[in-house]
Amino acid sequence: MTKQYAVVLAAGQGTRMKSKLYKVLHPVCGKPMVEHVVDQIGRLNVDKIVTIVGHGAEDVRTHLEGKSEFVKQEEQLGTAHAVLQAKELLADLEGTTIVVCGDTPLIESETIGALVKYHSEKRAKATILTTTLDNPSGYGRIIRDDLGIVEKIVEQKDATEKEQRVQEINTGTYCFDNRALFNALSKVSNDNAQGEYYLPDVIKILKDEDEVVAAYRMANFEESLGVNDRVALAEAARLMRHRINERHMRNGVTLVDPASTYIDVDVEIGQDTVIEANVTLRGKTKIGSDCVISNGCVFDRAEIGDRVHVRSSEIEDSKVGDDVTIGPFAHLRPDSEIKTGVKIGNYVETKNAVIDEGTKLPHFIYMGDAEVGKNVNVGCGTITVNYDGFNKFKTKIGDNVFVGCNSNLVAPVEIADNTYIAAGSTITDDVPEDALAIGRARQVNKVGYVKKIRAKHDK
Ligand code: UD1
Ligand code: CA
Repeated sequence: MTKQYAVVLAAGQGTRMKSKLYKVLHPVCGKPMVEHVVDQIGRLNVDKIVTIVGHGAEDVRTHLEGKSEFVKQEEQLGTAHAVLQAKELLADLEGTTIVVCGDTPLIESETIGALVKYHSEKRAKATILTTTLDNPSGYGRIIRDDLGIVEKIVEQKDATEKEQRVQEINTGTYCFDNRALFNALSKVSNDNAQGEYYLPDVIKILKDEDEVVAAYRMANFEESLGVNDRVALAEAARLMRHRINERHMRNGVTLVDPASTYIDVDVEIGQDTVIEANVTLRGKTKIGSDCVISNGCVFDRAEIGDRVHVRSSEIEDSKVGDDVTIGPFAHLRPDSEIKTGVKIGNYVETKNAVIDEGTKLPHFIYMGDAEVGKNVNVGCGTITVNYDGFNKFKTKIGDNVFVGCNSNLVAPVEIADNTYIAAGSTITDDVPEDALAIGRARQVNKVGYVKKIRAKHDK
């Protein structure tokens, strides 16, 4: 079988983004654009992926570590110059080389696969992936002769008025015979409007050498979207969102209002789960089956079990077991672990806390750096006093504990199994098993005192 290689172009600064973040690292549905591209190529099992890095090289490498090899393009002299940087790694090899731009995040592996197939059927030295756009502005145009055979690609800035009217565009994805590619690259000049070495010029060079050049026109023009500014970035996100949402719906997830549902690309959702309007699911969030995620929820790296109902709450980097109810307006901050059957009510905040099975935190509670046992009832207004301004301390609550309302649990502190905490207590000492702890001043009723004060003020 012919060996296959891929080159991903990702060295540009992306001036038109007007951003401190390098263009190809701008995320689309939770993943940098260039990572979308590399992941799609990864699915094709090519023998080698080389990403050309330049601006933001270190950051791009970090994101793609293990998925690609890297070559640095010190100066960004154009797309042909970018591919030429892979010379050391590729030039001597026999095979087929796919070239993709790191700023076309919607391109899919199936399309690239079809391009490669077409390329080998045509026995071409180069095949361009093209599409037809209503508004081709900004893209390179595919110029064909009277017989419809591809002659060359002309960039927008170099195009004559007539060429600008051509609606078939270069998507920036190509397939080459590897040796022919590197041969032609050495002949590309920068004699054009932008003074850059254009990769598309390879097409004309190969044509002039009487090589076969083909163009594979794809039907789904949306995949071709090249992101050069933030308007296109928003458009890419919209299209990607649509694709992701459709996948979940086809897998048996109900999205009440897909248009206002924002799901990152790596999110997993089980069957018969209902996602209501205005929900955002980020990162590697995973939701089980038969859950209801109500309006306004925002989850980031959340792992949620089955039959969980969450109303208008935020969950970040936390785990939630089966049959849990949460919210409205709860906030699970990082490293919260909520086990089976727990009830987290409104205005409850947890952080680095394990809440064991069957426990209830019904309202207005803060549990930070805490371990709470099974079947505990934590009264309204209870907080862990976990921070002294310098260090964090742990609160441990055993099983079957009843914590009265408005208790302050001053950490470090341990409350053993089967204990009661009287409402309004400030607990500073450990509480032994089966004890009732009361940590508050005794009430004094000063009988007749009000009359005395009023008389003094002559009221
Ligand atoms: C390019 C194509 C154009 C095509 C369009 C598709 C050229 C000259 N033009 O235009 O025909 O229609 O893509 O989206 O290729 N890059 C480098 N090093 C460089 C320059 C660019 O790595 O020196 C990378 C960029 O990071 C980017 C990609 O190559 O990911 C494309 O560069 P960009 O400047 O966006 O090219 P376009 O003007 O969009
Ligand atoms: Ca581009």
